[in-house]
Amino acid sequence: MRAYELASDEKQYMIDLRRHFHRQPELSWQEYATTKKICEELDRLSIPYSKLPKTGVVATLEGGKKHPVIGLRADIDALPVKEVRDLPFKSLNEGVMHACGHDSHMSMLLGAAKILSGHKEELSCTVRFIFQPAEETIQGARTLLDNAEVMECDDFFAIHIFPYIETGGISVEEGPRFTSADTIKFKVIGQGGHGSMPQDAVDPILTSAAVINNLQSIVSREIDPRDTCVVSVCSIHSGSASNIIPNDVEMLGTVRTFSPKVREVLPEKIERVIAKTCETFRAAYEYEYIHGTPATINDPQSSERAERAVREILGEEGLVKYEKTPGGEDFAWLLEKKPGCLAFVGCRNEANDQKYALHNERFDLDEEAMVNGAALFVQYVLITQSEI
Ligand code: NI
Repeated sequence: MRAYELASDEKQYMIDLRRHFHRQPELSWQEYATTKKICEELDRLSIPYSKLPKTGVVATLEGGKKHPVIGLRADIDALPVKEVRDLPFKSLNEGVMHACGHDSHMSMLLGAAKILSGHKEELSCTVRFIFQPAEETIQGARTLLDNAEVMECDDFFAIHIFPYIETGGISVEEGPRFTSADTIKFKVIGQGGHGSMPQDAVDPILTSAAVINNLQSIVSREIDPRDTCVVSVCSIHSGSASNIIPNDVEMLGTVRTFSPKVREVLPEKIERVIAKTCETFRAAYEYEYIHGTPATINDPQSSERAERAVREILGEEGLVKYEKTPGGEDFAWLLEKKPGCLAFVGCRNEANDQKYALHNERFDLDEEAMVNGAALFVQYVLITQSEI
């Protein structure tokens, strides 16, 4: 099976699908029409599937052997963004847009499903096509953790289309690719009073200022400089007048790191700083650390197989390096359980004005990139099936 040539043959099929999905974007957990369209395509390809409880689908293609089971994943939701460009396939759902390229993810995965089902005799594994809802909530993949078919997979592979890399380039490095993304929610509790008589009050505003400053000493003084993390207080609410010391201050923040080891120690460190600072200023506190998505970490062996797959379809020049980035991606929930790899497939083409960032209201992708992506899905399966 020559993956790249076969994917090229499916270019128009994928473009048509992508434009269909692009016209009808649906928000997280509301991907009903999207799910229906995916099922229709799977029916046409005679690939059996089971629907996920709300939205999304898991399809199964059985080759010569039951194992390994290779899970190929595409996310299917869109964003609450108003598309501003007048593309011929512009969103018909006002205020909702496939601004993160998930329309192309589904199309590439359907393209790969079509190719693989047409060459079933060359498969010595089971391929599971996972069309996952609600990636943008960073919780969609988490709900797959109690799906037996998904958890039966021995290895996972996913693609994110990437406008920061020129079309023709693909990055599949091992190790951390995205950070974990957790939330801190806390309250500094003082005692209200008159602004002119602070001695009769416990000032939560002054305490909060100290808490925010002191929290930064965790990153600068307690974390190994070879590791990285970010603790950002991003929301602060309190007060009603210029002369009233309020009762309390509510704050929200985000905590990010590439290192699971660092992530483990942060909740306690943050609470200690909040608690001791509040004590110094005679204030009390409430604190909650909300675990979000883990860091996205590519398994070395899966990455190495993905590298060979890229070389096979695009040659040495197809393999590009891209530095890890402090965003979040919920595929991490799956990679925390099983080995696997997330690939960044370049889709930047400035000549066609396809250069805007993911989530931007002008985002568009070079559709040629979908040939590379579908070929990569196929080639990854071919290499992986005989090696794990
Ligand atoms: Ni995305």
